[in-house]
Amino acid sequence: MFDDEFDSGALLSSTKNDYDIEENVLRPKTMEEYVGQDKVKENLAVYMAAAKSRGEALDHVLLYGPPGLGKTTLAHIIANTMGTQIKVTSGPAIERSGDLAAILTNLNEGDVLFIDEIHRLNHAVEEILYSAMEDYALDIIVGKGPSARNIRFSLKRFTLIGATTRAGMLSSPLRDRFGIMCRLDMYTPVELQRIVNRSARTLGIAIDEAGSFEIARRSRGTPRIANRLLKRVRDFSAVMGSDRVTKEDASKALKRMEIDELGLDETDRNLLRALIEKFNGGPAGLDTLAATINEDVNTIEDIYEPYLLQLGFLARTPRGRVCLKGGYEHMGVKMPEAVRRQLSVFDGDDS
Ligand SMILES: Nc1ncnc2c1ncn2[C@@H]1O[C@H](COP(=O)(O)OP(=O)(O)OP(=O)(O)O)[C@@H](O)[C@H]1O
Ligand SMILES: [Mg+2]
Repeated sequence: MFDDEFDSGALLSSTKNDYDIEENVLRPKTMEEYVGQDKVKENLAVYMAAAKSRGEALDHVLLYGPPGLGKTTLAHIIANTMGTQIKVTSGPAIERSGDLAAILTNLNEGDVLFIDEIHRLNHAVEEILYSAMEDYALDIIVGKGPSARNIRFSLKRFTLIGATTRAGMLSSPLRDRFGIMCRLDMYTPVELQRIVNRSARTLGIAIDEAGSFEIARRSRGTPRIANRLLKRVRDFSAVMGSDRVTKEDASKALKRMEIDELGLDETDRNLLRALIEKFNGGPAGLDTLAATINEDVNTIEDIYEPYLLQLGFLARTPRGRVCLKGGYEHMGVKMPEAVRRQLSVFDGDDS
C-alpha cells in the first residue's frame, strides 16, 4: 500500500481539502529546479553528500514553515537526490501504534518515510517513533499486566522526514530526535516570479514578465498561492480574449478576486479591520478575534497570520494580537495617538 508515493490509500492523508492534482505536475523534482531557500538547500546538499559518501542513510529531517512553502516538494526531492524510495503518510492518518509499526517494518535500508503534519501524531504513536528514530528499533509490548513482555524488533536504517506548520507543537522528545532542522521562509517576489514563469511554461500559459511579476508580488510569499493565482488569472485572461497574460490582465483578474496590492484578501482585511474597529488596535486574544470575524482559529494561525506578521502589520504579544502602524496605514485608518503610544513598544517587532 505504501509502495506508490501518490497512493491514496486509507492511511494516507485525506485531510487536505485543497488537494490539487496539478500541484504534483508543478512540483519541481530536483534541487536545481527548486527555487529559493538557498540556505536550506546548501546545508541539505552538504548533509546528503556526506551521508552518501559514508554509504549511510541521511539523518532525520524536520521541515517546518507555513503552508505551501514547499515542504512536501522538498521531501520528495531529498529522496530523489538520495536515490531512495519515499513512503508518504501523515500524522492524523496513523491512528494506532500498530499502523506505524507496520509502516516502519516495511521500510528498506535508506528509505525515506515522510510524515506530513507530524505535530498531529497521537501520543501512543509518537512514542513508537522515539526508539525507531534513535536506535532503529521497535519496542512492542505483548500481553497485559504482570505477564506483559517487551519485544524489540530491529529496523532498517531509514530517514524520517517530518513536515509541520507548527514546530512549536512538537513535543521536545520528538523534536530532539531530528538531526537536521530546516525552516522554510517566505519567498521574495523575484523568486516567486521564477516559480510563476516555470509553472506557466509547464502548463502552456503565455505570460509576459510584467504579468508574472504582478502575480508574484501578490502571492504572499507562497509558491502554492502563486501557482493558484496564475491559473485563475489565466482563466480571466482567456475570457478577456488576450493571447498572453499581461500586467493589466493580472491586475484586473486579481481585483476581481478581491486580492489587493499586497496580496491580502477579504479575510486578512476583516481581521485587521476587526482589530482596529472593535478592539481599538488590540491586544485581542486569538479566540476572540477568530470569533469576531467568524474564522477558524487554526486557519488564522496557519494561513493568515504568518504573512501579516511578515509584513509587520500585526504582532503577537503575550496579551494578544495587536495591529501595528503598517496595518492601520494599509486599511487607510489613522492610528489614534493614544494607541500609537501604547503600541510603540511592539512596533517593528515581528516576533
Ligand atoms: N521552491 C519551490 N520552487 C518551485 N515551486 C515550489 C517551491 N516550493 C513549492 N513549490 C510549489 O508550491 C506547491 C506547494 O508546495 P508544497 O506542497 O511542497 O508545500 P507544503 O509546504 O508541503 O505545504 P503544506 O504545509 O500545505 O503541506 C507545489 O506544488 C510546488 O509546485
Ligand atoms: Mg505538504
